[in-house]
Amino acid sequence: MTPIDSTMSVPVAIVGAGPAGLMLAHRLGRAGISCVNIDIRSRDEIETTHRAGILEAPAARDLVETGVSDRVLRDGHEHRGIELRFGGRPHRIDFADLVGESVWLYPQTDVFIDLADARARDGGTVFFGVSQVDVTDAVAAAPSIRFTSADGARHEVRARYVVGADGSRSVCRGLTPASERVQYFREYPFAWFGILCRAPISAPELVYAHSDRGFALISQRTDTVQRMYLQCDPDEDVTAWDDARIWETLQARVAGDDGFRLREGPIVEKTVLRFRSFVQQPMRWGSLLLAGDAAHTVPPTGARGLNLALHDVKILAEVLTRALGPEGESALADYEPRALGRVWKAQNFSWWMTQMLHSAPGASDFDRARQLGELDNVVSTRAGRAYLAEQYTGWPSEG
Ligand code: DHB
Repeated sequence: MTPIDSTMSVPVAIVGAGPAGLMLAHRLGRAGISCVNIDIRSRDEIETTHRAGILEAPAARDLVETGVSDRVLRDGHEHRGIELRFGGRPHRIDFADLVGESVWLYPQTDVFIDLADARARDGGTVFFGVSQVDVTDAVAAAPSIRFTSADGARHEVRARYVVGADGSRSVCRGLTPASERVQYFREYPFAWFGILCRAPISAPELVYAHSDRGFALISQRTDTVQRMYLQCDPDEDVTAWDDARIWETLQARVAGDDGFRLREGPIVEKTVLRFRSFVQQPMRWGSLLLAGDAAHTVPPTGARGLNLALHDVKILAEVLTRALGPEGESALADYEPRALGRVWKAQNFSWWMTQMLHSAPGASDFDRARQLGELDNVVSTRAGRAYLAEQYTGWPSEG
């Protein structure tokens, strides 16, 4: 291997520079702890990969209060509820009335841009577009990471702790010894076909639509660009769908007695998102800590993924700060117990919303009628609506 051109020593090395990795670096930076982030993706690649668009209110507040940016307050939109549509009827879930909370429509790409800009502003060290990443002694007392930066130079980062915030295809999670880790895994027989289109907003809040033709989600981005999803086969070929077919399918899935129609426009992006539920435990082994999608992945229904990742790193920043101070390494024992409760609650919520709203291939008449009974149960009592509202807006932070 080519010789090392630069060696850095930092308390914390973070593999991954998506929202989880960068928010952790930002929080550690505020506590006076320096770190390095590396990511195999370029900044442009992360910025243009569309993901979910919903932030829990405390996560939005944290962006402002920790000094990342107040752009969420200007460019984001507070939503006080969602609409569930089924049986051709709309049913509003009023978060503000039911649980006194709201969520913010603010796309993950914007969260990333704010964090990347904040790191650059605050003098943080972030390497995008790295290659040949080699983590040595990740779980031991003196881990190190070697990599090639985008300009071709070889670097070594020596650290006390390594954080794997490297997403759902995490390499770091595999560094926990195989004999010490358990992986929980579930796949789903459907996926989402996601589009971005140039059209006006169709509904004031997000619409989650269940129909016997499958699920559809109507979300938003700006006054002139909208985000929508329709349930599809995991192996769906996006090129087989022209604009006319997509609009016809979406319109059919949201159609109802109230005459609701989507406002159409040219479709500018099409992607298929596969569904999976995944958790790896433990979230910490020795000097290695996992955060966000690297430790757990959820299906997108209900937009828990980013929120869960931001919750992980909030706890992790606090625990790492204590571990690097007088308290020492024993502080790390707090991480998993405080993060994991929410992880499994979010796993359950994401699975529950998914199975309640999608049409399962091969479902029987009983299955379909039962599913409508479940939806009716949720919307027809205050307790049912409050249950959904509480989960969707997030749970109180543990510990
Ligand atoms: C969006 C994505 C989701 O998975 C969801 O539940 C709500 C909104 C979005 O991309 O806007």
